[in-house]
Amino acid sequence: MFKVAVLPGDGIGIEIVPEAIKVLKAIGVKYGHTFEFTEGLIGGAALDAVGVPLPEETLKLCNNSDAILLGAIGGPKWDNIPVHLRPEAGALLPLRKALGLYANLRPAMLYNALIDASTLKREVIEGIDIMVIRELTGGLYFGEKKREKTPTGQAAIDTLLYTTEEIERIARLGFEIAGKRKKVLHSVDKANVLESSRLWRETVTGLAKEYPEVEIIHMYVDNCAMQLVRWPRQFDVIVTENMFGDILTDQASMLTGSIGMLPSASLGGKVGLYEPSHGSAPDIAGQKKANPLATILSAAMMLRYSFNLNNEAKVIEDAVVRVLDLGFRTPDIMEAGGKPVNTEEMGDKVAEQI
Ligand code: IPM
Ligand code: MG
Repeated sequence: MFKVAVLPGDGIGIEIVPEAIKVLKAIGVKYGHTFEFTEGLIGGAALDAVGVPLPEETLKLCNNSDAILLGAIGGPKWDNIPVHLRPEAGALLPLRKALGLYANLRPAMLYNALIDASTLKREVIEGIDIMVIRELTGGLYFGEKKREKTPTGQAAIDTLLYTTEEIERIARLGFEIAGKRKKVLHSVDKANVLESSRLWRETVTGLAKEYPEVEIIHMYVDNCAMQLVRWPRQFDVIVTENMFGDILTDQASMLTGSIGMLPSASLGGKVGLYEPSHGSAPDIAGQKKANPLATILSAAMMLRYSFNLNNEAKVIEDAVVRVLDLGFRTPDIMEAGGKPVNTEEMGDKVAEQI
C-alpha cells in the first residue's frame, strides 16, 4: 500500500488534484495497487481554516506519507498579508525546505498532437524533450532578506547564497540524469556577474572530471533564455539554480504548448513531492477550465520516482498521449477542430484510456 498525502491548496488546485487521484485509482484497479489518500490543508485554504499556511499537522502528514501530491497555492485574497503568512513564503517554500527537496525535475516535452498549440513555429519545437533540473532549497529564495531605512526611502536586500555542497549534490544529479539520456548537460549560470555563479561553475567543472562520458556546456542564463526559443532542440538536460530554474521552466513550458502540461517532481529527501509547475490560476479558478494534465503527469512521476512503478508511470503517460491524439482539449491547448472538455472530463478521458 502506498500512502499519499494530498494537498489540493488553492485556486485550480482543488479542481486538478481530484483528476490525478482518479487516474491513480484507475492504475490501482488495473495493476492491483492500493493507494491510501489523506488530505491536508496548505496555503490560503489552511490560513483561512486554521490561521497558518502550513499547519504542523500537514507537515506531520507529509513526513508520514510515501509521497505528496500537491495542487497549487496562493491567490489575490492572500497577496497583501504579512509575508510569513503568505502561501508562497509561509507554506510552499518552508515545505520544500523542511522535507529536504533540493532537486526539482521539470520535464518539458512536446506532445505531437499539441505542436500547433504552441506559439512557436513547428520546425522550432518539433521533437522537444528537455529535462530541467532546478535547485530548489537554496539561492535567493532562502537567503537572508532585509529592509532598511535610507534617508530618502528604503533599501531591500535579498541574499543569493550557495555552498559547494549544495551545488555539488544538484550538479551530480544533473550528470547522472544526463548520463542516462543524451549525455549532454547544460549548466546555466551568470558567472560573468555573480560570485555564487562563479562558485557554481567552478564546482560543476570540478565534478565533470568524474563524468567523462557526459559533455558539459556552461551557458549564461540570459543566453539560455534566448537559445530556448531560438533552437530548443540543442538542450537535453539543463541544471541550474533556484531562481533561474523558476524562470526558465515557465519559458520552457511554452515550447510544449501550455504550462498546463508541465509536471514536476521534487526529490532529495525521504518523501518526494509532486506538483504541476504552474500556479493556482485565480483567473480561471472555479470554472472547470483548468488543464489537469500537468498534475496527472506529476502523478506519473510519483509512480516512477517514489514507488519505482516505471511501467505504470509509462501507462499514464501513454494514456495522456492517446487522449491528446483523440483530440480532447482543455481551453489552454484548444485549437481548430479540437474537442472541448472541462477539467473533470479530461481526467475521465485519461482514466478511461488506462
Ligand atoms: C514554482 C512557483 C513557486 C516558485 C512560487 C509559487 C513560490 O512559481 O513552483 O515554480 O517560485 O518556486
Ligand atoms: Mg514558477
